[in-house]
Amino acid sequence: MLEHLARKWGRKEKQSEPAELDRSGKIPEHVAIIMDGNGRWANKRSLPRVAGHRAGMKAVKEVVKAADEIGVRYMTMYAFSTENWKRPRDEVDFLMKLPQEFLSTELDELIERGVRIRMLGSKNELPSHTLKALLEAEERTKDNSGLQLNFALNYGGRDELAKAFSVMAAQVKAGELQPEQLTEELISSYLYTSEIPDPDLLIRTSGEIRLSNFMLWQLAYTELWFTDVLWPDFTREHFYQAIVEYQGRARRYGAV
Ligand code: IPE
Ligand code: IPE
Ligand code: MG
Repeated sequence: MLEHLARKWGRKEKQSEPAELDRSGKIPEHVAIIMDGNGRWANKRSLPRVAGHRAGMKAVKEVVKAADEIGVRYMTMYAFSTENWKRPRDEVDFLMKLPQEFLSTELDELIERGVRIRMLGSKNELPSHTLKALLEAEERTKDNSGLQLNFALNYGGRDELAKAFSVMAAQVKAGELQPEQLTEELISSYLYTSEIPDPDLLIRTSGEIRLSNFMLWQLAYTELWFTDVLWPDFTREHFYQAIVEYQGRARRYGAV
């Protein structure tokens, strides 16, 4: 895959888009990414796993810029799942410090680009320093009208649905909601993504072909794209390759 891309676009054109990318064509409004493979990237270099997480931040910067440049409106990056608390304490602590680290170096440039930042996930379990950095970024960017960059942090698709059903059940019990009002639209409005359209394209790196509890409700009709590339090695060229393939897909939504 990498060799193929290198041949196709050449080293010199590293900053360019692939010839086939049709900028006036179908650009996905919302791209979601399962950023996977940081640990294996570090292992291959005999580095601690956390070195892979740090290296992955560079890929986040590059891909967000690449997405903004072609007019993607929403990006959702899976940064920490509700299951990732099972990891060693040191690794969890490191991951919980990354949002501050990322935002302290990147927020000004993101604001210049008009980016709006949102956090999707359960806030209760987060360390206060992590939550503070995210809430500050949300507050400082809330009026921006450019690309919306969502970080799915302490996010689980089942957890999101369970929380939504629990709130709805309480409202039914209190007589504020009637059971027959529980439509697909209403359920969507109780999710973290209530103000965000469903993803058009999902990218997962590192060769794993699964969803790992990511956006289970929202991905119903999303186009899926998988690559063996490990997240820290993922570049704008890989991103545009995914967009080119997306542009060639026929989305039927069950129709003919
Ligand atoms: C993805 O990389 C980042 C997070 C899940 C936080 P991993 O840490 O899962 O890397 P691998 O899958 O072990 O290589
Ligand atoms: C999914 O990756 C979560 C994130 C990328 C944040 P994992 O590495 O946790 O997923 P599994 O365990 O391989 O399914
Ligand atoms: Mg993984």
